[in-house]
Amino acid sequence: MSPDYIHHTHLQDEAGTTALGAALAHVLEPGMAIYLHGDLGAGKTALTRALLHAAGYEGRVKSPTYTLAEPYPVKLADRMVTVIHFDLYRMASPEEFLEAGFREHFNENSICIIEWPEKGEPVLPAPDIHISLTVAGHGRDVELRALSDKGHQCLARLKFAPNL
Ligand SMILES: Nc1ncnc2c1ncn2[C@@H]1O[C@H](COP(=O)(O)OP(=O)(O)O)[C@@H](O)[C@H]1O
Ligand SMILES: [Mg+2]
Repeated sequence: MSPDYIHHTHLQDEAGTTALGAALAHVLEPGMAIYLHGDLGAGKTALTRALLHAAGYEGRVKSPTYTLAEPYPVKLADRMVTVIHFDLYRMASPEEFLEAGFREHFNENSICIIEWPEKGEPVLPAPDIHISLTVAGHGRDVELRALSDKGHQCLARLKFAPNL
């Protein structure tokens, strides 16, 4: 695998988070899994929402707190893809993930975005990208880290200039 690819940036306000979500929507590919790290209120759902809206989804996006997973059909690079947004915060045990059949969502036709991946260890499929959000002043610091070749290629294509 290629060496770690890490990108740090600061998102001054919610518009910065929205811009990053849109930039990610342009580079993600089917078959990828993205783990979102960060405390409650860090902006994991805001980032996912921005990504989905940039990918053309027009409905409401809220964290799937009780259903744990919510699928969104979108079009990326002229191809239909299902983005599945997970929020595992309320998952009692990793077995719940297996019993719900969630592992089947990780396939070549979908992109999985997971809030609170810590709750799914060790049964959660490995990620291509880790995104960590931290409150910093009035904004957020973000670290994007590639963990696979696919993730690396994806982040290398990312065009993101905050607060434009
Ligand atoms: N870059 C940013 N700077 C300041 N506030 C932000 C930024 N990005 C998002 N927010 C705000 O932070 C909150 C994030 O909430 P949410 O996305 O639900 O967090 P999480 O899913 O991580 O618990 C929202 O109120 C949103 O408006
Ligand atoms: Mg959330």
